[in-house]
This record gives sequence, structure tokens and C-alpha cells, in this order.
Amino acid sequence: MNSLIKTESGLRTQCAEAGVTLPLAQDTHILRNPLRVGNRIVPNRIVYQPMEGCDGTPEGIPGELTVRRYVRFSHGGPGLIWFEATAVLPEGRANPRQMYLHTGTLDAYRRFIERIREEAVKTTGINPVIICQLTHSGRYSKPNGTPEPLVAYLNPLFEKDAPLDPSRVVSDDYLDRVGEALVQGAVLAEKAGFDGADIKSCHRYLLSELLSAYNRPGKYGGPYENRTKLLLDTFSAARAATDRDFILTSRLNVYDGFPYPYGFGVKEGQDIRPDFTEGTKLIGDLASRGALLLDVTMGNPYVNPHVNRPYLHGAYEAPERPILGVHRMLSGTGEVHKGARDVKLICSGLSYLGAMAPRVAAGCIDAGWFELAGFGRQTLAYPDLAKDILETGGLDPDKLCMLCSKCTEIMRKPGGTPGCAVRDSGTYAPLYRKLVLGKTE
Ligand SMILES: Cc1cc2nc3c(=O)[nH]c(=O)nc-3n(C[C@H](O)[C@H](O)[C@H](O)COP(=O)(O)O)c2cc1C
Repeated sequence: MNSLIKTESGLRTQCAEAGVTLPLAQDTHILRNPLRVGNRIVPNRIVYQPMEGCDGTPEGIPGELTVRRYVRFSHGGPGLIWFEATAVLPEGRANPRQMYLHTGTLDAYRRFIERIREEAVKTTGINPVIICQLTHSGRYSKPNGTPEPLVAYLNPLFEKDAPLDPSRVVSDDYLDRVGEALVQGAVLAEKAGFDGADIKSCHRYLLSELLSAYNRPGKYGGPYENRTKLLLDTFSAARAATDRDFILTSRLNVYDGFPYPYGFGVKEGQDIRPDFTEGTKLIGDLASRGALLLDVTMGNPYVNPHVNRPYLHGAYEAPERPILGVHRMLSGTGEVHKGARDVKLICSGLSYLGAMAPRVAAGCIDAGWFELAGFGRQTLAYPDLAKDILETGGLDPDKLCMLCSKCTEIMRKPGGTPGCAVRDSGTYAPLYRKLVLGKTE
């Protein structure tokens, strides 16, 4: 039965019912070990994945709730904080309150990063590595609050209810400009005091969508070399434009969960079964351009969220057991690691594993599947999770994320600023009641 995993037997039952096994370490000591990434040290193996709050100012500067979220994260003791989706062009913002890094907001980001670092060192003695996720939201752009999609190609799977005008397909020249803006974003992120920048290529935002642009004409569509060209060229240009100690990375979809010709990481004629051949090659190609760290993920949060973040309750009943989705993400990360053994990989999708996540993460690290354990939703519910793992070896079953998708429900409402309505109820339950249930207090 699918339920919140609080014990080893709970995990074993769900794995047995689904017919999968996950590595399970007896202890979690390995999560305390520092990890070298180039000339920087990640103080422990716990990563807080990017969690967008749609709560910046209209100018794109962290707002009150944004600062609150990252202060809580910084007090929680992770070795690495992957700062949320941050636009590099105004038309590529996913909402009017998405972060937006440009010369006019640089000073505010500098002060913000200084504050987060100070808070972390003061309260935990840990100085986390902080990465900035640079993005263009592409198909999911809503800079003024309503959809203004900019797509790599028309996709009848996604557009069956609302066909898009072909003018929404961006030109090669426009993509060149996106690449330049991302490079400029990496330069600004370095100036702001981030330790690194992520050329985001996941979850079907613009660069991620290009990875499956099999039928797009021109230099960014067709064969693998063209579909990956913008990511790889931008990566190389950003590498050359920043200090060699600055971490250049990517959060990368290695599997989208859609059939050919609409999904990356699948084979023609093989429905939606994962095929990690191209994902593995891409990891190797990024490594040969200087990537030392990559963050591996899958799926699309809008169309197949059960692939992206396995849940107990969501917008629809998932067509598979959630533990299968977790297994795909963790073992798939192990598969693509074969493309470059020296690159350090971060996994995604640990929140579903509840109290057993630290032991599974430690087991996977022991098995060589990845080096760093990435937590998403769990960070909103349980911002102290890293501290608890480091101090006690595990997680408190009474503080866990309930996998109820309320954070996403808030996010999908106009003006919604997501957080955990269950564990952080003082701040987010009123928002949930108002925006999702339509109740006035
Ligand atoms: C509210 C919310 C905001 C998110 N924001 C981002 C984001 O800014 N960038 C990103 O790459 N992923 C984002 N994600 C995805 C998470 O980082 C993570 O990949 C996903 O939740 C699966 O991990 P988990 O099972 O540990 O939650 C978000 C997810 C949620 C629920």
C-alpha cells in the first residue's frame, strides 16, 4: 500500500509490492563527509534542491517570504543550497514574482547571499555552497501572470486542448540571445557571491524542451548534436567567462517521460520506456566542457508530475506506484553516471522515501549511483532535515513532508506563493485556505 514511509519495513513492503530494490545502508555516516568539487568543498552530502516560492518583488529581488525560506534553509545545515529558478530575460519569467538577476538587481542579490551565508555560519558553523539556477521558462513563461509561451517546437501532446500559434516557436536568433543572457547571468551570479551557476536544462523549460526538438529545422533541431547545442555552447561560453573556481553546472533532465518525438531520453518506437543513451552521452559532453557537478532530474511538473515528484495525493491518481518513480530517478542517475565517473552527481526525488531517505541515499552513494543527496519538498516541510541527519543519523517521522501536493496547489493559483501548509501552517495554511479552498478567514 502507498503510504508515508516511516520505517524500514514500510519501505521494504512498498519495494516488494512494486518489484524493485533500493540500496539501503545500515548507517548514514557517509552523508557527513565533505566532498571536493574543483577547488570548493561541499561540507556535507545533503543538498537542498531549488524550490521556487514565486515570492520575489516585481523587480525580481528576493522578497520577505523568499528571505524567510532561505534563512530557514541556512539554519538547517545543508552542504549545498541550490537557489531557485532565476530568470535572465524578463519575458522568460514563469510568474511576475519570479527571481530575475540583471545588473539592476545585482546589489540586492549580493546582500542576500551575504546574509544567507552569515546566517548559516553563525547558526550551524557550516558554510554551504550556493548555486544560482539560471532559467528561461520557455513554454511556461508568464511574465505578466498569464501564459505567454515561447516554445522550441509545437507539441500536440501538450497542446491538444489549446493549440499554439506557430509564431510562438522561437527563432534560432532568439535562442542565440537566450544563450548570451544565460552567460551574462552566470557572470552576474559570480559577482553576486554565488559559488556557482546552473544553466538550467530540466522540467521542459526552454533549454530542456530543445533536447527533444527532433523535428525542429535549423541548427538547434534534429540530431543529438543540434538538440544539445545551445546547452553545450552556453556552458562553454559561461565557463570561459567566469573564474575557473566558480562552479558551472546544470540541472538536467535525462528522461522526460513522453514518447518520441516529444520526449528526451526515450527511443523511437519504444513508447515511454526510458533510454538513457543520450542522457549518458550528455553527461560526458558536459564533463568534457568542464562540468564537475551536475544535478540529475526527470519529468515535467505540469504534465506528468508523478514522474517528477512522486506523491501520495496529487492533481490525478498516478498511473504507477510512486516508489517506481523514485527507483527510476535514483537508479537512472546511477545509469547516466557511466557517462562521466569523475563528475559529482546529485539525485532528485528523495522526499517520497520519508524517514528512510537518508539510509537509501547513503546506500546509493555507497553503490556509486551519485555523490550528493538532493531533497526538494522535504525542505519546505522540514527545513532542519540536514541538521537532524547529521546529528542523529536520521529524520523525525513526525516532521516529514506528507506528499500531499498542497505546496503545488498553492503555486498553481494566480499570485500563489508556495510553502508547506501542513508543517509550516502558521504561514502557509491561511494561504492554502484562501487561494485553494476559497475561504476567507
Ligand atoms: C513548490 C515547488 C517548487 C519547485 N521549484 C523548483 C525550481 O525552482 N527549480 C527546479 O529545478 N525544481 C523545482 N522544483 C522541483 C524540486 O526541486 C524537486 O525536483 C522535486 O520536488 C522532486 O524532489 P522531491 O521528491 O525531493 O520533492 C519545485 C518543486 C516544488 C514542489
